[in-house]
Amino acid sequence: MIPVITIDGPSGTGKGTLAALVAERLGWHTLDSGALYRVLGLAAARRGLSCDDPISMAALAATLPVSFAADQVILDGEDVSEAIRTEEAGMAASRVAVHPPVRAALLGWQRRLARPPGLVADGRDMGTVVFPEAPLKIFLDASPDARAERRYKQLKGKGLDANLPNLVADIRERDARDRTRSVAPLIAAADAVLVDSTAMSIVEVLDRVLEEVRRVF
Ligand code: C5P
Repeated sequence: MIPVITIDGPSGTGKGTLAALVAERLGWHTLDSGALYRVLGLAAARRGLSCDDPISMAALAATLPVSFAADQVILDGEDVSEAIRTEEAGMAASRVAVHPPVRAALLGWQRRLARPPGLVADGRDMGTVVFPEAPLKIFLDASPDARAERRYKQLKGKGLDANLPNLVADIRERDARDRTRSVAPLIAAADAVLVDSTAMSIVEVLDRVLEEVRRVF
C-alpha cells in the first residue's frame, strides 16, 4: 500500500506549510485538498453560479477544467494560484464544500493522487474520509485568535489590506460551517495525533511531526 500521511485541522493552523515541509523531507508528493474547494468556489463566482446550489456545484466539480502543475493551479487555462488564496475564495470554498455530491465528485480524484513513494495530504477530512487507512494522521489545531493573527501578518507582509477583528469573525464563521456540516465535518480521526500549534513555531511543529514519522514508518 502507498504510504499516506494526513494533516487535518481548521483554517490558518499552518497545515499547508507543514505538509509541504514534511513532503520535502521525505521526497513525497502533496495534496492540498483545500485548493480544490477554493478553485471550485472561484469558478462558480466567475460563471455567475451560486455556491449554495448543490446541483450546479456538483456538475461543476465533475467537469472543472482545472489542473495542478508544480506550484500552480490552472483554471480555464489561467494561473489562479494567487486568486484562490483570498478570504473571499476561502469563504466560497467552505460554502461549496457542504454539498455531499460535490464531495463525492472529488473523492476519486483525491485518492488517485496517492502515488509512490508516498503522499502528504492536508485538509479537513483527509484522515476521516479520503484516506481512512493512512498509517499516520495528524490533527493540527490552534486558537482562533492565533490563527487570525498569523493570517493578518501574512496579508500585511504581502502589502494587502487586513482587519484583525474581521479575520477573527471570518475564521469563526468558517470553523462553525466546517465543523457542523452533515457530510465530512471537521473532526479529528479517532487515531489522529493531536498537535496544538497555538504557542509553537512552525519548526517546533515540524520536529514534533517528524518524531511521529520516525515512529510510524
Ligand atoms: O484549507 P483551506 O482553507 O484552503 O480550505 C478552504 C475550505 O475548503 C475550508 O474552509 C473547507 O470548507 C473546505 N475544505 C473541505 N475539505 C477539505 C479541504 C478544504 O471541506 N479536505
